[in-house]
Amino acid sequence: MSLDISQLRTETPACKNLIHFNNAGAALSPTPVTRAVFSHLEREQEIGGYEAAVEAQGASENFYKAFAQMLGCSEKEIAYADSATHAWNKLFNAIAFKPDQTILTGQSEYASNYLAFLHLAKHKGINIKVIPNNEDGLLDLGLFEAAIDKSVKLIALTHVPSQSGVIHPAQAVGKLARHHNILYLLDACQSAGQVILDVESLGCDMLTGTGRKYLRGPRGTGFLYLKESCREHLEPAEIDLHSASWTAKNTYELRQDARQYESFECFLAGKIGLGVAVQYALDIGLECIEHRVQSLANSLRTQLQELGNVHVHEQGEHLSGIVTFNKQDKPADHLHAQLQSHGVNTSVLRLANSQLDQKQRQLPDINRASVHYYNTEEEIARFCDLVAAS
Ligand SMILES: Cc1ncc(COP(=O)(O)O)c(C=O)c1O
Repeated sequence: MSLDISQLRTETPACKNLIHFNNAGAALSPTPVTRAVFSHLEREQEIGGYEAAVEAQGASENFYKAFAQMLGCSEKEIAYADSATHAWNKLFNAIAFKPDQTILTGQSEYASNYLAFLHLAKHKGINIKVIPNNEDGLLDLGLFEAAIDKSVKLIALTHVPSQSGVIHPAQAVGKLARHHNILYLLDACQSAGQVILDVESLGCDMLTGTGRKYLRGPRGTGFLYLKESCREHLEPAEIDLHSASWTAKNTYELRQDARQYESFECFLAGKIGLGVAVQYALDIGLECIEHRVQSLANSLRTQLQELGNVHVHEQGEHLSGIVTFNKQDKPADHLHAQLQSHGVNTSVLRLANSQLDQKQRQLPDINRASVHYYNTEEEIARFCDLVAAS
């Protein structure tokens, strides 16, 4: 199936005014998503928030249906969260770590996840083992396997990092996790919406992500997947009247699904909007999306490299929509500002926020251009002209 790019761009009105290469920051939401958010907010204004919630029960349930279809799991294994960080921390903090147990992770682990490891190490005396990437920038699977021992309680991997276009071998890590019977938490924040995610073949017990990036959902939304058979081994760190019922003065019962990690209060308009965004992606076809994003990103890398004075940081065949680079003698912030003045959105990734990865690769602050399927070859050509002229 081929994509109707012109229609998809019509449903992405800002495409008329700017070149949005900041999809790894926050992608542009399509009109059906924005409309769903607005119309729920309007109903809250018209009839009241609780009353609008009752009316929107079906739309709210669609959130679980859409994610279950996208991830190949049951609706009972999906929960809403207000960000990827909160989703990830809810699961991480539900694990009963004992002192001297180990978290095994990789060089590209997301900064906030690593901060959570440091926090736990400080308070509970757990160990953190970080496996370096190989020369292709991918998690070194040989070293990773060799680091597995009886002390490893959790394997935590970031699938697609913020600061590089690589796609880590999440499935191979899943095989190791299964073989050694170790909990496996996959951060799919940057991969959800641009890479096909099937939790069975990934072999993960837990997976988290955000709404606003490649899924094109509203800001302030996220989700988690928790494998049904894993749920009983975890214990939510906080509960409320949504995640549990108060059965008698001194007793309570947790909900028997992943929603035991949700709270009663949530940004319902955003949750509905994210459900619509996932359905929108499913209707387009995740395979088509993955193929188009990767081919646009490869084209961008090739054309940037051809400029001669631009260094593209990732190499290889199987890369994501994230392209990272530096222009010779041009601080990343300056280039970012100049591009923005021409209506081009990109990001700067700061060395200070990447103590494991950018530091290891001896990279300064770097520029990031992240493309989505609604971007075009014409935009890439214009972008490269602007980078050349900056
Ligand atoms: C790999 C990765 N994980 C987690 C996050 C955090 O997402 P959120 O801001 O929704 O908490 C990000 C955000 O950039 C990310 O790139």
